[in-house]
Amino acid sequence: MSNRVIIFDTTLRDGEQSPGCSMNTAEKLEVAQALVDLGVDVIEAGFPIASPGDFEAVQAVARQFGDRAVICGLARSRDDDIDRAGAALQDAAKKRIHVFLATSSIHRQFKLKMDKPEIVRRTIESVQRAKGFCEDVEFSPEDAARTELDFLCEVVEKAITAGATTVNIPDTVGYATPTQYFNVIKCLKENVPNINQAVISSHCHNDLGMAVANSLAACEAGARQVECTINGLGERAGNAALEEVVMALRTRQDYFGLTTGINTQKLFTTSRLVSRITGMLVQRNKAIVGQNAFAHEAGIHQHGMLQERTTYEIMRPEDVGFQGTNLVLGKHSGRHAFRDRVTQLGFTLEDKMFEQVFNDFIALADKKKDVYDADITAIIDNRFGIVEDRWKLVSLHISSGTGAIPTATIQLQHGEEPVKCDAATGDGPVDAVFQTLERITGIKARLTNYQVRSVSADKDAQGEVLVEIAHEGHTWHGRAASTDIIEASAQAYLKALNKAASNVAPPRGEDQRGV
Ligand code: KIV
Ligand code: ZN
Repeated sequence: MSNRVIIFDTTLRDGEQSPGCSMNTAEKLEVAQALVDLGVDVIEAGFPIASPGDFEAVQAVARQFGDRAVICGLARSRDDDIDRAGAALQDAAKKRIHVFLATSSIHRQFKLKMDKPEIVRRTIESVQRAKGFCEDVEFSPEDAARTELDFLCEVVEKAITAGATTVNIPDTVGYATPTQYFNVIKCLKENVPNINQAVISSHCHNDLGMAVANSLAACEAGARQVECTINGLGERAGNAALEEVVMALRTRQDYFGLTTGINTQKLFTTSRLVSRITGMLVQRNKAIVGQNAFAHEAGIHQHGMLQERTTYEIMRPEDVGFQGTNLVLGKHSGRHAFRDRVTQLGFTLEDKMFEQVFNDFIALADKKKDVYDADITAIIDNRFGIVEDRWKLVSLHISSGTGAIPTATIQLQHGEEPVKCDAATGDGPVDAVFQTLERITGIKARLTNYQVRSVSADKDAQGEVLVEIAHEGHTWHGRAASTDIIEASAQAYLKALNKAASNVAPPRGEDQRGV
């Protein structure tokens, strides 16, 4: 058996199903580019029948990246789903249709209302139909981890006979435990006569916090594909985190004896990109890609590290692309030094973007003495999403204080139109800003999340603001950083309003997921 584990990334499909994480086609293409650069083997780009937006996104990813990774589209075991997936993937040189059908007794009885023979029949028919579009077909018995083992073996065997080249064993509801999941895979290996004709895959959800442990247990039992997402995004508590699975396999090569094709030095920037696009912040102590993942606070640890880093460090930060240099730049650092640092941090900026970011850096360095890597990342993140903006902030004035009614006066410009000015009061300065922005743009939204955190630790640190708004049934995010958190709040809210105002609705038309 090969010792190479196939990394199947489903950030654009299962990850995107996470509440508030919808991405439009342009955003999906940006993530797909990062996944290709990261070296993932298979990109599940979406669920083409779910909505016209999903179809368009899968098609675009297939056209742009179908020669560099296998592009996969999801389909229920229904003819129209499979045909739609086949059409979306048509232009990819490397393509896969992923068909799924639930097999557990709970799903058979309450969701599908199908008996076992019908499940088997539809499994065979749907795999055969998918084979009409491509050689590479994956079959998933949904809720496999709660399916009777003898029936699971039967379905898997029939799927392989019908032509499935990968059989995926989803723990759809995150119910499995590592030993139990290991035994499920082992049972398939021992009891399905044709199992060696297909790759066994794991797909674990994190409801009990065991998605990564279960995925690794599956690898130990013989699975050679892991389905996972960047930052562990996904339905409910998410999917197995790609960065954790990959670094566990790499760091404990001595134990697992397995490899992947991932360029681990790109993990940190890919995580940051997905966080920026989806608006899902990465918790500071998140394994591998959290800001504190490599921070040693305790004196005894620091002392040990100074003697020999392996005393307390099992991975080198640079192996996941975490620079952590904490070399500071200041206003006398030239363009050259700045460009070097931007490249070291893993960004490739076009000339125009670089100039804008460099100007932002000079402006920031005027306000704060030391500019850290996190500040540079924040100002680059700030710039993304501004280019297409409809409304731009021209000026902002706040009056607030004890005994005063918080009031915001704002000037905005929309394209080439004359600058518009308005003012509003609120129960605090941030509320006053949001009210004023809504008055000028004419977009009434509901604020569903608002978070502020400091980018670095010093007193003059930038504050990074994340807002989430609900507008006409959609969720939109905005993120911005500034040394002035009211300004960052205004910029973040404006980004979210601009997204709501844009014609690019997220891919959720006649959403048919979960049926
Ligand atoms: O969790 C799950 O069962 C899925 C399937 C569609 C593979 O995401
Ligand atoms: Zn899933």
